[in-house]
Amino acid sequence: MSPSILVLGATGLSGLAFIQVALSQPNPPALTLFVRSRSKLPADIEERTRVVEGSLTDTDALSNAMEGVDVVVSLLGAYVSLSAFIFRTTTTPIADAVPGILSTMRAKGVKRIFALSTASFSPDPAEVFSIGRSITGLMPKIMVPQGNAEMAAIAETVSAADDLDWTVFRVPHLTEEAVELPVAAGNLGPDFKGGFNLSRASQALWILKEIEERQWVKKAPMLGNY
Ligand SMILES: NC(=O)c1ccc[n+]([C@@H]2O[C@H](COP(=O)([O-])OP(=O)(O)OC[C@H]3O[C@@H](n4cnc5c(N)ncnc54)[C@H](OP(=O)(O)O)[C@@H]3O)[C@@H](O)[C@H]2O)c1
Ligand SMILES: *[C@@H]1O[C@H](CO)[C@@H](O)[C@H](O)[C@H]1NC(C)=O
Repeated sequence: MSPSILVLGATGLSGLAFIQVALSQPNPPALTLFVRSRSKLPADIEERTRVVEGSLTDTDALSNAMEGVDVVVSLLGAYVSLSAFIFRTTTTPIADAVPGILSTMRAKGVKRIFALSTASFSPDPAEVFSIGRSITGLMPKIMVPQGNAEMAAIAETVSAADDLDWTVFRVPHLTEEAVELPVAAGNLGPDFKGGFNLSRASQALWILKEIEERQWVKKAPMLGNY
């Protein structure tokens, strides 16, 4: 049976790609979109999904959005801003809302969550020494301090939820390339065959496949097209 999925970050580029790919599957999942403003959604998407408006800290709205949901997919992420770069801002409004999202999942009996993060979070200390990590991990720290802090904190909070079936997937440079591009998943290191691009459409397909296959439950693989 196709799952009922709650999408967080549905109005972003990854969110819109996920919705498009999900709805084009032979057996499309039921989608609920939790958004700050429905005016950011194209009309054809609004017609084919259930939309709930609210801020991430509005647990009543979140609770309503999670009704009947099997899986939460978070494609939330911080916008890159010049002022955050200059002032080295490291506020984390999204990560600050994650504990409330997880509690709402528990209250509603939703067990599975996917969360987008980056190489600024590493589940394995050995990774720190790999060349891959020094490029994909350190560049964001310098160039996008706020996005980096946000993505690391989201991953840390989600991966600490031992009672939930979480998957943190870490992304490199996101692109609008083809859905057909194969996706490598694994820890960074000499054996990782993924490159520095990940098309948002192939990211969507990987998530949909992983919802069924459950190969990365309680794991935080890096993804990359190859
Ligand atoms: N682009 C890259 O190459 C790249 C590389 C590595 C990591 N990342 C990270 O990956 C994330 C996803 O990338 P993307 O380019 O596909 O997405 P995006 O277009 O940047 O979309 C971000 C999404 O997060 C939501 N959001 C941001 N701050 C929020 C807040 N405080 N409360 C509620 N929602 C909030 C936005 O909602 P609204 O529409 O309501 O604003 C939007 O739906 C990025 O945000 C970035 O942090 C990007
Ligand atoms: C990465 O994506 C960009 C488009 O965003 C493309 O121009 C470039 O060729 C890609 N690189 C690789 C190695 O596929």
